[in-house]
Amino acid sequence: MTTGAARRRGPLAVGDQVQLTDPKGRMHTITLEAGKQFHTHKGILEHDTLLGGPEGVVVRIGTTEYLALRPLLSDYVLSMKRGAQVVYPKDAGQVVQMADVFPGAHVVEAGVGSGALSMSLLRAVGDTGRLSSYERRQDFADIARDNVERFFGGPHPAWSITVGSLQDELVETDVDRVVLDMLAPWETLDAVAGCLRPGGLLCCYVATTTQLSVTVEAPRAHGSFTEPSSWESMVRGWHVEGLAVRPDHRMVGHTGFLLTTRRLADGVEPPVRRRRPSKGAYGEPATESAPEERTEPFRPDLP
Ligand SMILES: C[S@@+](CC[C@H](N)C(=O)[O-])C[C@H]1O[C@@H](n2cnc3c(N)ncnc32)[C@H](O)[C@@H]1O
Repeated sequence: MTTGAARRRGPLAVGDQVQLTDPKGRMHTITLEAGKQFHTHKGILEHDTLLGGPEGVVVRIGTTEYLALRPLLSDYVLSMKRGAQVVYPKDAGQVVQMADVFPGAHVVEAGVGSGALSMSLLRAVGDTGRLSSYERRQDFADIARDNVERFFGGPHPAWSITVGSLQDELVETDVDRVVLDMLAPWETLDAVAGCLRPGGLLCCYVATTTQLSVTVEAPRAHGSFTEPSSWESMVRGWHVEGLAVRPDHRMVGHTGFLLTTRRLADGVEPPVRRRRPSKGAYGEPATESAPEERTEPFRPDLP
């Protein structure tokens, strides 16, 4: 089965998802079946009205008009069933771009949660790539599988999901990318270092500053990784109507932090950091004197 363009275009067919949006922006998502009806308190819509026709049409339920479109992935992940909190589309986009996930790549992912990030990763690796996902909770793995299969219209050829902790289950090698969204990614670092090929990339998504701190220090201390980069992204919508053009009053203030780091070849020492940590960064008292030149590779676990 192909999960790419063929499922995303052409006349609406049995099994396709359709998002119905009313004039107030309220959405319902239905899966098309021949002879089936969609009921709301406003009336009934026959699925056959849509089957075989184009998307982007307006249908009527009672007196209310609904716009009918195939849901975008970014719509779908926000409306699907959730087990754990999902990675928002703005962060999933960052992960795909900054973790450089390419068609045909072998990617390892943990945890799977509701499967939102898995879907972006599956799209990026494509049908010929490989996404090996690990989730320690069976109930979340079941929800994620359901969400993924509903979106792609069946099992994705590139996807496997293993129930268990990544650090206990991971046996793969020569992996291109590892993407972690979990409470304590630093606990998996030995396993991650063991599976990534030299030049492979680790990308972590964490919610809090304390997690970010430990998640950045861990690869520095490990010795098998390049200096990590960390950042967050903010997206602000704009209200644009005639001359009333202004930022939206509300925005998603904080979702999480991202960091990336690359796997060094075995036996290679991380290069000495050019920018030294500021005084006090590791607990020593801050002074006015200039920091001493470091000659050793930077390792926070060393004195
Ligand atoms: C925030 S959720 C992931 C959400 C997911 N990225 C999404 O977009 O839907 C974190 C998940 O990591 C799982 N988890 C935590 N530690 C893990 C580990 N060491 N190995 C596998 N899964 C883990 C948890 O059970 C939880 O489901």
